[in-house]
Amino acid sequence: MRFSSLLLLAAAGLAAAEDGLNAWLRYARIQGAKGFHNKLPSAIVTLNATEGSPVYTAGKELVQGLDGIFGKQVKHLDGSSRQKQPATVAIVATVNAYVDANPAAAKRIPQLADDGFYLDVSNGNVLILGQNERGALYGAFHYLNLLAQGKVSNYKITSNPDAPIRWVNQWDNMQDGGTHGSVERGYGGKSIFFWDGKVRDDLTRVRLYARLLASIGINAVVVNNVNADPNLLKPENMDGLARIANEMRPYGVQLGLALNFASPQTLGGLDTFDPFEQKVVDWWQNIADELYKRIPDMAGYLVKANSEGQPGPMTYNRTLADGANMFARTVKKYGGVVLFRAFVYNHQTLNQDKDWKADRANAAVQYFDGLDEKFEDNVVIQIKYGPIDFQVREPVSPLFSHLRKTATAIELQITQEYLGQQAHLVYLAPMWKEILDFDFRVDGKRSVVTDILNGKRFNRKLGGYAGVANVGTNTTWLGSHLAMSNLYAFGKLAWNPSQTPVSILQEWIKLTFSDDPKVLDVITKMSMASWPAYENYSGNLGIQTLTDILNGHYGPNPASQDGNPWGQWTRADADSIGMDRTVWNGTGFAGQYPPEVAAKYEKPETTPDNLLLWFHHVPYTYRLKSGKTVIQHFYDAHYEGSATAQTFPKLWESLKGRRGIDQERYEHVLFRLVYQAGHSLVWRDSINNFYFNKSGIPDAKGRVGNYRYRIEAEKMDLKGYRPYDVHPFESASGTKCIVTETNSTVGVASTVLSNIKTGRYDVAVNYYDLAIGNSTWELFIDNQRVGKWKGDLEYTLGKAPTLYIDGQTATRITFKGVKVKKGSVLKIVGTPDGQEPAPVDYVSILPEGIVD
Ligand code: GCU
Repeated sequence: MRFSSLLLLAAAGLAAAEDGLNAWLRYARIQGAKGFHNKLPSAIVTLNATEGSPVYTAGKELVQGLDGIFGKQVKHLDGSSRQKQPATVAIVATVNAYVDANPAAAKRIPQLADDGFYLDVSNGNVLILGQNERGALYGAFHYLNLLAQGKVSNYKITSNPDAPIRWVNQWDNMQDGGTHGSVERGYGGKSIFFWDGKVRDDLTRVRLYARLLASIGINAVVVNNVNADPNLLKPENMDGLARIANEMRPYGVQLGLALNFASPQTLGGLDTFDPFEQKVVDWWQNIADELYKRIPDMAGYLVKANSEGQPGPMTYNRTLADGANMFARTVKKYGGVVLFRAFVYNHQTLNQDKDWKADRANAAVQYFDGLDEKFEDNVVIQIKYGPIDFQVREPVSPLFSHLRKTATAIELQITQEYLGQQAHLVYLAPMWKEILDFDFRVDGKRSVVTDILNGKRFNRKLGGYAGVANVGTNTTWLGSHLAMSNLYAFGKLAWNPSQTPVSILQEWIKLTFSDDPKVLDVITKMSMASWPAYENYSGNLGIQTLTDILNGHYGPNPASQDGNPWGQWTRADADSIGMDRTVWNGTGFAGQYPPEVAAKYEKPETTPDNLLLWFHHVPYTYRLKSGKTVIQHFYDAHYEGSATAQTFPKLWESLKGRRGIDQERYEHVLFRLVYQAGHSLVWRDSINNFYFNKSGIPDAKGRVGNYRYRIEAEKMDLKGYRPYDVHPFESASGTKCIVTETNSTVGVASTVLSNIKTGRYDVAVNYYDLAIGNSTWELFIDNQRVGKWKGDLEYTLGKAPTLYIDGQTATRITFKGVKVKKGSVLKIVGTPDGQEPAPVDYVSILPEGIVD
């Protein structure tokens, strides 16, 4: 942008376009900034800070922040500088460095835990002390965070992290291509770490990522996919990893690595990877030595073993503890830890037809049974929050209550694999909070998850939080501006899980957009409504996210849950639904919880409705505590959830032009919310029709299967288009759509609107946008073109690309206020592209205010 246009924007009070790269660290100028100058430090003094150290980084960050937020330029002085210090300074140091320089101060400084900080702000004199260098940087970020929210008062704060492990996991592949591309389950672009089998040359984004992570207290990043590529351990790649570590070190973020258990064989050329073979142990020791030579502060390893086809110790009849300990011993002398995943199950042998008691949810506790005393003290078992796999609702994994001697970390998923990916707004902190606050009642005593993670409940030192983040090269990081509240909230909760999801969210809104009350109110409203809405339209009563588990984990496909060994079963038949996980008659999973909790889950009457179908197999006519039947609850919830999603675009539109809402982010967010509103209808109708078809029980409110505003495409006059049976059937209204007769000829579908009153309508077209072409559609009323659009959502939305005409690709475009006469001719002209045959499902002619 040219300088003159910047000036113009400033004069008009308009926010400059923002691409999201700085996320919540924008340091946007606050209102009345100048008036605060005399309450701010005039220089930053860092003690014992060498360039590139976190304390030095803190100094730089403070200079940048004060300039951005207040327009106040301050100098960064080093503690030994002979320059005269101004009257007000911010001193940044470790406690030790500060006490060395000011022995008398020792008494005033509170005791800090590892990574903790102390902040003393008094009329522009600011003391920022960290228990270690990283802690000092955290203190500086905290101070800036408050300033950016306009909090320029005096205070003293002591802040210690709740738990030592606060890691993010990236699932980055070294190569693009393959099933998952550059980042497994990543929806924000390519890997920022790897390209073409190697560590990237340009690691600018890695440094920026480390800065973001440090500002929310994250202290390590596992940089590669848990489905790990052994090639990462080649010497040239280790050199690359060292470069990554160098980029992150100034921010106190350590590097972690995911390992492939079979590496001694596949990479090392040994004839075995048995952890009991000395040559295997030696091979891994050499790897650890080589890595620590290059990266002396490496955080440690993350290991996925014997799960989903990955190799592990059980290949040689060794236990999971034998496997974990082998790694743990190689890194112990360097202070490294091993995060060993509890996500262990066999995805090939489970058979729901043969065995009513088979249950993937049982796997973790069974595999770790008897191992609690067996792990080295630098092993942490990393447990997904639920026993299956990042579903919209799961009970907390019972394994947390079984491991008493072994440290545990909870694995949360920031990237929304099963929760709408980065195309649906779903603020996850409320879900995480419910999980973290869950009380297991171990031995009849209060045993909440957070106290298990921080070590208090079972008296352990290690433990904490791992968040699967999967950011990419997209400037929004995750692929959506609003999704970044999830990354922010993860860090904040890992630091202090007693914070509320709303308070974290509002902090994030102020930093990311502004403290305009309307902005705060609207984004809070949307975000807090988003998880319940998503649960309502994707899968409720504990049935899990009813998504396509065999494909992109994105749109609706309830049938894909059953009939395969993946074990995400619903056991839905014509009369009943749900997994019987009781002890008396089912898989026994309920019995994996401590007695008080187990007793509650054992009976439908005492199981919360939102987990009913997780634990019980009941008739569709079973009455919930609300008095509704299960099936009617399904129908109603799907209508309610999608109705909530319809409110999001309108709410967002009310923020146009408000402070902090620049045009670029406004449009980016609006586009997604409009898409989400349309896709929530796809969810609603698919799931409802699926269960209507299965159960034969009609919707008491007469909605399911009756769509009075719709015209099915397959019933129009077709030229160059033909009807097509969609699979699964419920992904199309009336089970069919239309596709062009060939891949290179245009199709025309037309109909006379004879049953309509002349007036203005919202005309919605439901169509399918596949990732194998960019078809074009045009909509005409009486030969007047209403609109033209392209099927390029694969480039514009952050979601898994899919190739099929189904619930993942089904979408809607709406033209508002279109003039339609009784007898008008509506026409759609579809031009196919590549393999995408310009598919159309139906058109809705909607009176104002109605969405259906
Ligand atoms: C899910 C996810 C996989 C991932 C796995 C894991 O199943 O779909 O992509 O590898 O979890 O957490 O290991």
